[in-house]
Amino acid sequence: MARWGDALQLRETAAAPTDQQCFYLWYDGQRLRLCRAGDRRGIYLRAASVAPRASFGGALARACGVTRARRPSVLDVMSGLGSDGMVLAALGCSVTLIEQHPALWALLDDYLHSQSVRKARALLADCWGWLAGQGGACCDTLYLDPFFPPRAKKALPGKAMQYLRELTGQPPFESENLDLCLRSARERVVLKRRLRDPKLGQPAWQIKGRTVRYDVYRAIGVG
Ligand SMILES: C[S@@+](CC[C@H](N)C(=O)[O-])C[C@H]1O[C@@H](n2cnc3c(N)ncnc32)[C@H](O)[C@@H]1O
Repeated sequence: MARWGDALQLRETAAAPTDQQCFYLWYDGQRLRLCRAGDRRGIYLRAASVAPRASFGGALARACGVTRARRPSVLDVMSGLGSDGMVLAALGCSVTLIEQHPALWALLDDYLHSQSVRKARALLADCWGWLAGQGGACCDTLYLDPFFPPRAKKALPGKAMQYLRELTGQPPFESENLDLCLRSARERVVLKRRLRDPKLGQPAWQIKGRTVRYDVYRAIGVG
């Protein structure tokens, strides 16, 4: 607990909060969880969910330019729980995860340490300020998974995504940030969208999965 406790100035309490609106972090002796009143299981990235997705033939790996012969450096700038970034790390890429929310960053940090993931690091930062501060290209592939655009639809997202949305207030993805991304990568920028979401700008190509697609842009970064 000391790791994130110090970094985030957390307050330790013996009893779980009872306020339904309140999220809290719980360390159960093995892993850190993001919980809320009435849900002690909470959410965290399960290592068992990463391995089955770690395939070179998968849509995520293909979109990010990962092959057996080539493992680009990846910057996952909106990491959330890190489920996509950890698939890329499991395939052998060196991955930098950036997350703006302290509780989510703590979950990422806990995962990296508890699973001894050596090829990844997690940074607590606003990615746009962080990228602007780099002054040029800082990765081969820049990966973006912002919240999907709202749509008038019935089905609720899964629990993990509901928690992330409530916790972070769903910061919108502004298309002008795409330009900054294009300047921040040497090779490509990959944007995850739902299959029917509108395109942003002009992707060079698209790779479609079962429920999502990856729009791939040619990067223009130097450095
Ligand atoms: C859709 S979730 C990402 C889900 C993630 N790919 C996963 O596999 O769990 C979007 C995430 O982007 C983060 N985010 C939004 N704006 C950000 C910013 N400016 N800097 C860093 N993180 C940001 C949110 O806090 C949220 O956790």
